Amino acid sequence: MNMTNQNINLSNEIPDKEPERQYYYIEKAKEYIQKKSQEIGRPLTFCVTTFGCQMNARDSEKLRGILLEIGYIEASEDIADFVIYNTCTVRENANTRVYGRLGQLKPRKKKNPNMMIGLCGCMMQEPEVVEKLKKSYGFIDIIFGTHNIFKFAELIVTRLESQRMIIDIWKDTDQIVEDLPNERKYFFKSGINIMFGCNNFCSYCIVPYVRGRERSREPQAIIREIERLIADGVVEVMLLGQNVNSYGKNLEQPITFAQLLQEIEKIDGLERIRFMTSHPKDLSDELIEVMGNSKKICKHLHLPVQSGSTRILQKMNRRYTKEQYLELVDKIRKAVPDISLTTDIIVGFPGETEEDFQETLDIVRKVRYDSAFTFIYSKRTGTPAAVMEDQIPEDVIKDRFDRLLNEVQTIASEVCAVHEGTTQQVLVESVSEHDSSMVTGRLSNNLLVHFAGSEELIGQLIDVHLTECKGFYYLGEKI
Ligand code: SAH
Ligand code: SF4
Ligand code: F3S
Repeated sequence: MNMTNQNINLSNEIPDKEPERQYYYIEKAKEYIQKKSQEIGRPLTFCVTTFGCQMNARDSEKLRGILLEIGYIEASEDIADFVIYNTCTVRENANTRVYGRLGQLKPRKKKNPNMMIGLCGCMMQEPEVVEKLKKSYGFIDIIFGTHNIFKFAELIVTRLESQRMIIDIWKDTDQIVEDLPNERKYFFKSGINIMFGCNNFCSYCIVPYVRGRERSREPQAIIREIERLIADGVVEVMLLGQNVNSYGKNLEQPITFAQLLQEIEKIDGLERIRFMTSHPKDLSDELIEVMGNSKKICKHLHLPVQSGSTRILQKMNRRYTKEQYLELVDKIRKAVPDISLTTDIIVGFPGETEEDFQETLDIVRKVRYDSAFTFIYSKRTGTPAAVMEDQIPEDVIKDRFDRLLNEVQTIASEVCAVHEGTTQQVLVESVSEHDSSMVTGRLSNNLLVHFAGSEELIGQLIDVHLTECKGFYYLGEKI
C-alpha cells in the first residue's frame, strides 16, 4: 500500500513538490544504507519509541514506514542502530523520562560507530528543550519537530552527508503532506489523522503551542486512506484529532464532523469507527443523532471533563459549565443508551479549593464513568496557568488525587459489571499476555475480554458471551 515510486532516478533534479521530494530522498537514503550494511556485513536496525498520545503513536507509524522503506530492519531499542524518540511534553514527567533515557544511550553510541539517535515530537517544539539538547547532549544526530515529520527521509540523508547534528524545527505550518509510507502496529485496526493542531488554548495545556493551529484534512483524502487500509485488512479505524468536534471548519468547503462520520460509515468493509478526542463545548446535537443512528460507530465516547467545578472550568478556559456538561451527558445517554463514557480529570489546578474538588467528585458520581484518566496538574512554562497565583501544594494535591482515584475505580468496577451475562461482538486483538491459550478482544464499548482461543482469531470480529466481570475486564466464552 505504500506508494513508492519505482522510477525515481537519482541523477535527476531533486523534486520540489511533496511527497515526490521525500520519495527521492527515500531512494537516496536506501543507497547509503545498503552500502553501509554491505560494509559491516549485516542489516542496520532501528527502533522508534513513542511517548504521549495516539497522535504521536500514529506519527511513529509514519516514521517506521519511512525507515522500513529505506532498508532498516526493526529491532528492540537495546540493540537498535538507529533509536528515535518521538516525545511528548504534555506533563513535566514525560520530559524527565526522555532525558533519563538519553543518558543511557550515550555510552552505547560511543561503542557503535553506526549508531544514530533521532529526537522528534512535541518536546522538540520548545526552544528551551532544543537549547538544552544542543548544550548537553551533543551526541544526538537528528532533531526535528511535529510540523515537518514528513521530511524524515530528507533529514536522514542530510545527516548522512554532513556528519553533524541536524536540527530542523518549524514554528507552525499550514502544509499537510499526503501519501507517504506508514507501517501500522496492528494489521486489523488503524489510527487516522483527520486534523492536526488545536485552537482551544485551555489555560493549562501546551499542546496548541507545540502542535500549532488547527488544520483539517480534506474528507476525500481521509476516505481514500480508509479505503486503502480496508483493502489492506483493516476493519476498525480510530479518527484522531485534539478536538474532532471542530473538524472541517477551516476547509475551503466546510463540512462537519458528523457529516464526515456519515461518509465514512458508507465505506464497505469497514466494521467499526472510533474517534478521539471530543471537546464537550463543540459536541453537536447533529453528532449525537448520527451516533444514535450509526451501525458502525462504537459505543464509547471519551469526553474529557477536566474538573467538576464551574469556577475552575472557567479558569481553565474550557468554555462549558458543570451543568452544561451534565446536560450533554444526559442527551448522549438518551440517544445511545448503552454508551460507555470515559474522561480525563486534572487535580490541583491553580486555585482549586476543597469545595472545587468536591464538585469534581460530585460530577464523577453523577456521570459514573466507565473509566477516567486522572492527572496531577503539571505546570507548563508559557501557558497562562503557569503564572496563576495559588499553585496548590504537592501534599494537598496528592491527597485529592488518591481520593479521586479511589472514587473513579470503585465506580468503574461497578459500571463495568453491568454487561455480565450478555453476548457481545468483540474484535480479537492479541494472544492474552497472561495465558497463551487465551486471546484478548475489545468490545464496542472499549472494554477488554479474555477468552479461550488462538492466534488465527486475531483481527476477526467474534460473538463472545461475557461470563464474568473481573473489575476492569471480562472473562468470556466464544459462542
Ligand atoms: N485534546 C484533548 C486532550 C489532550 S491532552 C482534550 O482536550 O481533551 C490529554 C489530557 O492531558 C488532557 O485531557 C488533560 O486532562 C491532560 N493534561 C493536559 N495538560 C495538562 C497539564 N498541564 N497537567 C496535567 N494534565 C494535563
Ligand atoms: Fe489541550 Fe485543550 Fe487543545 Fe485538548 S482542547 S489539546 S486540553 S488546549
Ligand atoms: Fe503529548 Fe504531544 Fe500528544 S504533547 S499528549 S504527544 S500532542
